[in-house]
Amino acid sequence: MDIVVGVTGATGTIYAIHLLKALKDTGTVKTHLIMSDWAKETLAIETDYRLKDVEDLADFVYDNKNLGAKTSSGSFVTEGMVVVPCSMKTLSAIANGYDDNLISRSAGVMLKEGRRLILSPRESPLSAIHLENMLKLSRQGVRMVPPMPAFYNHPQNLEDMINHHIMKLLDQLGLEYSQARRWQG
Ligand SMILES: Cc1cc2nc3c(=O)[nH]c(=O)nc-3n(C[C@H](O)[C@H](O)[C@H](O)COP(=O)(O)O)c2cc1C
Repeated sequence: MDIVVGVTGATGTIYAIHLLKALKDTGTVKTHLIMSDWAKETLAIETDYRLKDVEDLADFVYDNKNLGAKTSSGSFVTEGMVVVPCSMKTLSAIANGYDDNLISRSAGVMLKEGRRLILSPRESPLSAIHLENMLKLSRQGVRMVPPMPAFYNHPQNLEDMINHHIMKLLDQLGLEYSQARRWQG
């Protein structure tokens, strides 16, 4: 199965890294990674990972400026796309069909083809414009999965909190994840 992973310049690049690792661990998913310029900046600001470390986790890597890449066309069939973290700028681009880079174009392809699109929008506080963009996309069937920590599973560290979010993303793709604790009642 082929999954497109878009990474944008909202805080939380580490979520994308954990997602790529989890998808690689499935052994069945092929990942198509696109990182925006600001995702690369936040990677450097927030983590000790080098760009190459992240790109090595993916099966295919595309330049965000390359609108001729495979994922730009609906004729390249994938199971869906995750944008994590998703900046308010990219959220707006997707919500308004402003497909001027490969991340927003690939997301637009998911919408027009009726494929799975999962966004992890990240901003705080959220303005009415942000909320309207999310609602507009949600009404189109886009899954909004913001990185929101849960405490009912008694996270012991940051890793636990990150993994909980990865579980939420994988749930939307119908993939199991053993690194997080589910609520058992
Ligand atoms: C360290 C850092 C953290 C940021 N965090 C956020 C954020 O949480 N949410 C957001 O919408 N933008 C955030 N931004 C601003 C985006 O990077 C900026 O709007 C950029 O234009 C997004 O472009 P992109 O969607 O193409 O990556 C952050 C920028 C930096 C440098």
